[in-house]
Amino acid sequence: MKVGLLTGGGDCPGLNAVIRAVTRSLIRQCGAEVIGINDGFAGLMEKRTQPLTWDNVGGLLGLGGTILGTTNRLDPLKSEAATQRALDNAQALGLDAVVAMGGDGTMTIAHGLAQRGLKVVGVPKTIDNDIEGCERSFGFDTAMATATEALERVHTTGQSHGRVMVLETMGRHAGWIALEAGVAGAADIILLPEIDYDIDAVARVCQRRESQEHFTLICVGEGAKPINGEITLDKPAPTDQGKPRLGGVAFALRDQLQPLLKSEVRATVLGHVQRGGSPTPFDRVLSTQFGVKAAQLVLDGQFDRMVTMQGGNLASIPLSRVAGQNRRIAPHDPMLQMARQVGISFGEPGHD
Ligand code: F6P
Repeated sequence: MKVGLLTGGGDCPGLNAVIRAVTRSLIRQCGAEVIGINDGFAGLMEKRTQPLTWDNVGGLLGLGGTILGTTNRLDPLKSEAATQRALDNAQALGLDAVVAMGGDGTMTIAHGLAQRGLKVVGVPKTIDNDIEGCERSFGFDTAMATATEALERVHTTGQSHGRVMVLETMGRHAGWIALEAGVAGAADIILLPEIDYDIDAVARVCQRRESQEHFTLICVGEGAKPINGEITLDKPAPTDQGKPRLGGVAFALRDQLQPLLKSEVRATVLGHVQRGGSPTPFDRVLSTQFGVKAAQLVLDGQFDRMVTMQGGNLASIPLSRVAGQNRRIAPHDPMLQMARQVGISFGEPGHD
């Protein structure tokens, strides 16, 4: 059996740990030949690969990024010719199966290729934790830990200078990093893509704190926007390069808030710091669990499926359930209710 591994979309802590786990599990269970496909689906289009062996995946467990390289700017489904080329190359490489690690975009491509006959298993990766049907993707815990630490660090300056400190986290249109890091890092206000904020409600919380605690800590997800306002884009991506790039809402919020407050408002954008570095122990374990499960799906011939975590248990679901979807925070998510109970504001009108 010959199996190809690829990583698509943004890099993410834990990818290398999955590569290690899939490779070793396949070699151990059936002596499979395992190869890495370089730079995601781009490598499949160009037949760029590297051998993966028991020995050369050693030392990967705690290594950030992906040794295979990745891209989130290539879609083999964009034309019939591109799709056919990906399928032909998989055949020419002699691949009996492909394990694709990635987020919603990668899972959508994987499903499209599976529909055309590629034997593919998906592994959910993203710091955003927004993959449909998966309650915990690897990378999220690491990103959340980094964002929590950053909040604690800006807290120090906020408290010392009596400032309003705004920290922007990633997550695109899902606010999981902002929500969980905000709770863990003792934010006073958390602004999420799922709940449009009222700038006056945000200002009232800051004003009340100006006269009492003298500082305010705000954690804002990059996809958050004011009521009747727009998402802040860093730079619109060229149309042939996929999704628009989000970023900068912390600065927009600072500019909206400053005229309403006595204290100084300062903004920090955490950016790719959240995606980098070594995975937490939790993510190393989860990546290993996902990798071993993916190898099992390959051995069982369970294709066009994605490894997942549901109710704390490892499982698999059809890729058709994941393709083109996003898991966002529901209005009645218990985490929102819990955060309100400890006094966190979500910038909603009438809730401050
Ligand atoms: O999906 C992961 C993510 O890090 C998002 O949170 C963020 O908006 C996006 O990727 C950034 O992607 P890039 O590194 O391509 O700009």
